[in-house]
Amino acid sequence: MLKKNKKIFLKTYGCQMNVYDSDIMLDQLKEKGYQSTSDDADADLIVLNTCHIREKAAEKVYSELGKYRVLKHKNPSLKIGVAGCVAQAEGKEIIKRQPLVDFVVGPQSYHSIPTILEKLNDEEKIVNIEFATQEKFTKLKATTNKKIKPSQFLTVQEGCDKFCAFCVVPYTRGVEVSRPVNTILNDARNLADSGAVEVTLLGQNVNAYRGLDESLKERDLPYLINKISEIDKLKRIRFVTSHPVDMTDNLIQTFGSNSKLMPYLHLPIQSGSDSILKKMNRRHKASDYVNIISKLRDVRPDIALSGDFIVGFPEETDNDFRKTIEICHAVRYASAFSFKYSPRPGTPAFERDDLPDSIKTVRLSTLQAVIKDYQQKFQKNLVGEKLSVLAEKPGRTEGQIVGKSPYLQPVFFSGKKDLIGKVVDVQIIASETNSLSGVLQ
Ligand code: SAH
Ligand code: SF4
Ligand code: F3S
Repeated sequence: MLKKNKKIFLKTYGCQMNVYDSDIMLDQLKEKGYQSTSDDADADLIVLNTCHIREKAAEKVYSELGKYRVLKHKNPSLKIGVAGCVAQAEGKEIIKRQPLVDFVVGPQSYHSIPTILEKLNDEEKIVNIEFATQEKFTKLKATTNKKIKPSQFLTVQEGCDKFCAFCVVPYTRGVEVSRPVNTILNDARNLADSGAVEVTLLGQNVNAYRGLDESLKERDLPYLINKISEIDKLKRIRFVTSHPVDMTDNLIQTFGSNSKLMPYLHLPIQSGSDSILKKMNRRHKASDYVNIISKLRDVRPDIALSGDFIVGFPEETDNDFRKTIEICHAVRYASAFSFKYSPRPGTPAFERDDLPDSIKTVRLSTLQAVIKDYQQKFQKNLVGEKLSVLAEKPGRTEGQIVGKSPYLQPVFFSGKKDLIGKVVDVQIIASETNSLSGVLQ
């Protein structure tokens, strides 16, 4: 009898870096003969790629794992692994809390998964949470020769040295490590040859990128962007996520000088209050942030700005919160994410008194209403404009295409499927809550 291919069910939580990592984990396992399945009941291997950023995100993992008890009972050879940031933060504690788990693997050790799977025949449980970032980069290929979608992510940097008082990322992803320029350029060329038109450079602190070139000279993000933009088939470049203190004038200027760099920037500030920013260890004042925004608008007046906010950080007063709202009025965000502060074990802020949830709830809804208002204004301003849109995929209705505007909104329009992968002109005729619609020119 033919031995059937083993099947893997991989579920991803958290940020884009996890989505990216899940793809390379799958590619790696496919090379070892695994097939991916969207049905956990059909799997020989279940991997949860987890997020530790807020308590809710981390708790979801345990409730999900609990559900697999029945599956493991039915199929005792089923293997269950926990990857990602909960794996890194909690290590073997995960197995103590949920003995169904066979292995735990941290984000910098994914290249060891095939070995872990082999060893599991002899060993009961395996935990690998080493920080071997460069090894991960060299051992795991970002691309395969499969046909890919027009917009792709590419990790250029991982980890964070900033240690904001609320954040687990420096502990789960380790120190900042940048990939060498040439390996990134190779990946970018491969992506372009496989059909990518847009590439988004990924890093926890992407604008702190410092990678070595062939002569071992350290290069920064503007250099990398300019090099990548020499690849003809790539028409659009983006990067995410940036920290205000690494927003150099040179990088700001690149928005004006490099036409492939899209007019969109995600630049989290977290709070508009200097006193809270200090308590958060963000290392800058609100006015520094506003200065960056005004310099960006000088070089790229149409730039779409996005950010992240935390409300209800320990000791945040009504007055502090008012300053956060003021920042929104000053910046006029095209979109922004906002979260209630969640105390995370191991971070400095965990020791501080947490504000009542009722205060956080009110502040969050107040902030979100302001953000939504500016988002609608930004989109309505685009009605009547002709935008260059990257056609990405067929829409839900026949003859409809979904594309992406330079400012990152989805754009719906009618057109033939062969437009997919092309950058086309679309006259915007309407703005919906989270999207635009228009007519192909
Ligand atoms: N590296 C990025 C993203 C970090 S995580 C950056 O520095 O901006 C994404 C967002 O989650 C953060 O910007 C922050 O707004 C939010 N976040 C991080 N820790 C949090 C916590 N403990 N509680 C609530 N939100 C948090
Ligand atoms: Fe977390 Fe701050 Fe680093 Fe962003 S800069 S990943 S919020 S520690
Ligand atoms: Fe979550 Fe880790 Fe990303 S904690 S946000 S998956 S870096």
